[in-house]
Formats: sequence, C-alpha cells, structure tokens
Amino acid sequence: MNGPQFGAGFEQDFEQLLAWRRDVRHFRTDPIPADLVEHLLDLTTLAPSVGNAQPWRFVSVDDPARRAAIIANFEEANTAALSNYEGEKAQLYAQLKLAGLRQAPRHFAVFCDEMTEQGAGLGRMTMPETLRYSAVLAIHTLWLAARTQGLGLGWVSIIDPAAAKASLDVPADWSFVAYLCLGFPQDDHIEPELQRRGWQARESRCRQVLQR
Ligand SMILES: Cc1cc2nc3c(=O)[nH]c(=O)nc-3n(C[C@H](O)[C@H](O)[C@H](O)COP(=O)(O)O)c2cc1C
Repeated sequence: MNGPQFGAGFEQDFEQLLAWRRDVRHFRTDPIPADLVEHLLDLTTLAPSVGNAQPWRFVSVDDPARRAAIIANFEEANTAALSNYEGEKAQLYAQLKLAGLRQAPRHFAVFCDEMTEQGAGLGRMTMPETLRYSAVLAIHTLWLAARTQGLGLGWVSIIDPAAAKASLDVPADWSFVAYLCLGFPQDDHIEPELQRRGWQARESRCRQVLQR
C-alpha cells in the first residue's frame, strides 16, 4: 500500500506548526472538550518507541489536593533554583514564569514504565534510557498535535520527581518523566518566551554538525 503524498501546502503548514509550537505558561482557564483531549492522547500513541515498547504512562491529575501538592512541589523547587543564580541572572530568573499550573485546565504527569514487558527488551538492553527517550517522543507528539488544535502545552521540570511520584501514588516501577500543563494559550508567539525575556535565544541554524 502506498502512503499519503504530502504536498507543498502541507509542508508549509508543517513548518508553521514547528515554528509556532511554543512551550506555553499563560493559559486561559476555559475547559478543553474531553473528546478532544482523548483524541490528542490517541495521536500521542503514534510516537516511536524502542522495541515498540510504548512505555509512556499518562496520568491525568484532576484531584485538587494532588494538584495542590504538585504546585507546592514546584514552588519549593523554583525557590531553590533561584538561589543558584546571582546578580542579573537571579533578577531575571525571579521574573520568569516557568509554569502555568494554576490556570491550565488539564494537568498530565508522564511516567515511563521501566518494567514493561512490551517490546521484550528489544534495544533497551544496551541502552535502558531509550525507554525514557520513547516517553519523551510521545510528549513531543502530543505537543505538536495539541498545537494543531490551537492548544498549548507547557512542560514543567522544576519539580522534585520523587515527591511528585509520591503525591500521585503510581506503581513503583514507573519513573517520572515530565509534568505537563495543557490548555488554550492566552496568546501566541513565534519566539520562545525565554528568548523574549532575554534568558536564552534560539539559534537560527543547526550549528553542531561535526564532520568526522
Ligand atoms: C525537557 C524539557 C523540560 C522543560 N522544563 C521547563 C520548565 O520546567 N519550565 C518551563 O517554563 N519550561 C520548560 N521547558 C520549556 C523550555 O523552556 C522551552 O521549550 C524552550 O525555552 C524553548 O521554547 P519553545 O518550546 O517555546 O520553543 C522545558 C522543555 C523541555 C524540552
């Protein structure tokens, strides 16, 4: 069977999708239709994975007490992170908004099932970390899929993973990969927020191609 032909129009749209994806921290609070979220999570499972193990485990965090624990976790980690900077960088860090946890209508914690039998160990005996890489690819797939629907996703990693895992009461064999906020963005930007705020600009070219 022949696959689809992606025309020039799609190519342009795809480039726009990549350019406008954004990590979002400023959300509108209005809810996302449940069937849309389900559809996006289905698309997420099209991501590649080592040995086809599909080790990603998404946990929808809806319970207010669990969300509050995650927010407290973030705030503590964020305060600790601030103390690692001095001078101008500390001032700038204090002004950054590094999560949209209070506004985002949906929260997902993403774990990797380290003991999954799926994939029968293929590929990960030499590189066990490929299991976690696979979960990251699922997140990136969700990131792009969400953007096609006008939704924004924000990745929160300023968090104590052990405490986050404990507050979500998940199986012991799952390792914490990411905490995600999903919702409609307050506004759209073609530049990353960290670039707009003078923290770190995006490079316009792929400069790290060494030749050997
Ligand atoms: C692994 C990973 C962890 C990240 N953690 C955070 C985070 O804790 N807080 C935050 O505001 N952004 C986080 N980000 C988003 C990055 O800051 C963002 O991707 C980068 O600044 C480029 O912006 P863009 O995604 O809008 O292109 C994370 C991104 C990745 C890939």
